[in-house]
Amino acid sequence: MDDFIVLEEVEKVFSVRRKTGFLKRERHEVRAVDSLSFTVARGEMVGYIGPNGAGKSTTIKMLTGILTPSGGRLRVAGIDPSRERARLAHRIGVVFGQRTTLWWDLPLLDSYRLAHRMYRIPDARYRENLDRLVELLELRTLLDTPVRQLSLGQRMRGDIAAALLHDPEVLYLDEPTIGLDVVSKAKVRGFLRELNAASGTTVLLTTHDLQDIEQLCSRVMVIDHGRLMYDGPLTGLHEAGESERTLVVDLERELPPVDVPSARVVRVEGPRQWLAFPAGRSAAPLVADLAARYPLVDLSVREPDIEAVIAKMYVEKAVS
Ligand SMILES: Nc1ncnc2c1ncn2[C@@H]1O[C@H](COP(=O)(O)OP(=O)(O)O)[C@@H](O)[C@H]1O
Ligand SMILES: [Mg+2]
Repeated sequence: MDDFIVLEEVEKVFSVRRKTGFLKRERHEVRAVDSLSFTVARGEMVGYIGPNGAGKSTTIKMLTGILTPSGGRLRVAGIDPSRERARLAHRIGVVFGQRTTLWWDLPLLDSYRLAHRMYRIPDARYRENLDRLVELLELRTLLDTPVRQLSLGQRMRGDIAAALLHDPEVLYLDEPTIGLDVVSKAKVRGFLRELNAASGTTVLLTTHDLQDIEQLCSRVMVIDHGRLMYDGPLTGLHEAGESERTLVVDLERELPPVDVPSARVVRVEGPRQWLAFPAGRSAAPLVADLAARYPLVDLSVREPDIEAVIAKMYVEKAVS
């Protein structure tokens, strides 16, 4: 198997100075990443999730060479990122959702021209890639707009294009959908799915949004307090966390709690009822069952959030 990304017991410890009194400071250590081991094969699309402060961004920064690990062994495409950051840069692309790499005051196109020169992308290849990315990410009408005038969703698409102009073999995305509206999220997800399928680009994606993972990744890794808690398919995570999704149904009128075998009613408020069902299961049979037997007006599905899934994983571990 072609392991493109390899981590063996990687650690990152930050030494921080905390003010403890007048002119008094104390050193203390933050173990952001703790004995982390995993591998990612070429062409995989892996979700990397966990609560705030779990160590996701620190991991991505070590994978790009921005940060040097305090211990362990790390390789991307056979390269030690922090030792050969410049050489690695030609083979990776990175997008930080909370920080743009685009030039704020310049038209979008100028950032791409700079990338063209910085990465020494051959002219024909640059034009071809720019054309394709601009098309797929719907940037054509935005190329002359200064980056600071772009909406968050437009800017994110602009950042993704910038990260891919030099044909990287792997793309790291740190919270690429954070703060985006539903339509922008869908565009970004659609593009990433297409990229991974068509070009075989390896994708490592950190996110808060379980729907990103659900729609994109067959494999998910969960990190908490710098440690890997889970590595496997999303369905397995739902089982591990025994998490549930919620179907919210609006009936024509107030009724007693509906009676369906695959879900249980957890709340009733007038004609609206909340039904919990296992997150790993499709909502379709449940909806069909309800529609056949009850006067349905409307419905929506609520996803479990990551914090809830992880909290339940801890409970499971404690009792087993
Ligand atoms: N440069 C830094 N200096 C000190 N502590 C840091 C630094 N970067 C991150 N940390 C700490 O490391 C932990 C992990 O942070 P981070 O990797 O950003 O988490 P996440 O991306 O999962 O939210 C947090 O406790 C954070 O405060
Ligand atoms: Mg982060």
